[in-house]
Amino acid sequence: MLMSRLEIMIENLVNENPELNEEQFRGHLGGLGLNAGMAEELGDSLWDLYQIIRERKKEAKALKEEETVRPKVLAIVGSFRKGGNTDLIIDRVLSGAASKDARTEKIYVDDLRLGSCQGCYECKPEGVCKQQDDVLKIRNKIEEADGVIVGSPIYGNYMTGQLKMLLDRLMGVLNKRVFVPGEKKFTSVTRLAQKRRNIFIVLVAGAPNEDCGDDALKLLRRMTGSFANGGFVEELVATGITAYGAVAMDEDQLAGVAKAAGVPNPEEAAGRARSRNLDILEKAHRIGIKIVEENENYPTERQDRLDSDGYF
Ligand SMILES: Cc1cc2nc3c(=O)[nH]c(=O)nc-3n(C[C@H](O)[C@H](O)[C@H](O)COP(=O)(O)O)c2cc1C
Repeated sequence: MLMSRLEIMIENLVNENPELNEEQFRGHLGGLGLNAGMAEELGDSLWDLYQIIRERKKEAKALKEEETVRPKVLAIVGSFRKGGNTDLIIDRVLSGAASKDARTEKIYVDDLRLGSCQGCYECKPEGVCKQQDDVLKIRNKIEEADGVIVGSPIYGNYMTGQLKMLLDRLMGVLNKRVFVPGEKKFTSVTRLAQKRRNIFIVLVAGAPNEDCGDDALKLLRRMTGSFANGGFVEELVATGITAYGAVAMDEDQLAGVAKAAGVPNPEEAAGRARSRNLDILEKAHRIGIKIVEENENYPTERQDRLDSDGYF
């Protein structure tokens, strides 16, 4: 009891005089109501306590400053394969962002506690889903972020099922649909805080043609665009990449994969693939940098209206 009172008094002393040296500190002990005997007996412990509280407060202040100053970049990985191609490309984006001092976080959709959308529309009035799982956590992380990366392999000419399930759950949570009387039509409005977020969409396909990503891009552009608020939306469709981790393989490894698949002239094919993959990884890193660099001067213009016929 006496100690907790003393702790409060020492904390107040830190607040008022955070830079005391030991001698000055001891000079303040009388002012805390300690008689000479107690000041003598407790002096060393209280000086330790003063220094501990002072350090704790400095750390808390530094953390708070860091949180407000350093941009936050969030990556959502829609592939089950940790260390797979989508994951490896996203790592490059994040390393680019981190090289510009961003705080980065990567989330695998498969690690989330996530139910499928039940189409109940209970999220319609307030944007709150009745299912109490990780959707709220993801919504809040997107809201806090200055940059958002969403990645998926192409599965059946679309994104993975798990990413689509997450997007379904987020539709009414991120956006609301309002009627604009002047225009006599509905429009979607973001429910998130109005701040600029730069977006990077990453798709990876086994097929050689980039248009295999078109259908997935349609929904991903629409949903990420709704919370970009004037931030850019960039895309990368990495094609011709199938094997686990192939995007980061060296030429020998790629030649081995090509040989096993019966590709004619495997060395030549491996050389081409390696050079294409290096371009992909370089672009990913560059966009990671851009996500942070282009966030330093937020435009003030609000961009909360999407085109009509939004989902909600
Ligand atoms: C179930 C399944 C469906 C796939 N469908 C397609 C497809 O429609 N088009 C395509 O180009 N690649 C398709 N692929 C290949 C993946 O897109 C490719 O292997 C990709 O590199 C995987 O990325 P990851 O390593 O990040 O998981 C499919 C793969 C699986 C497992």
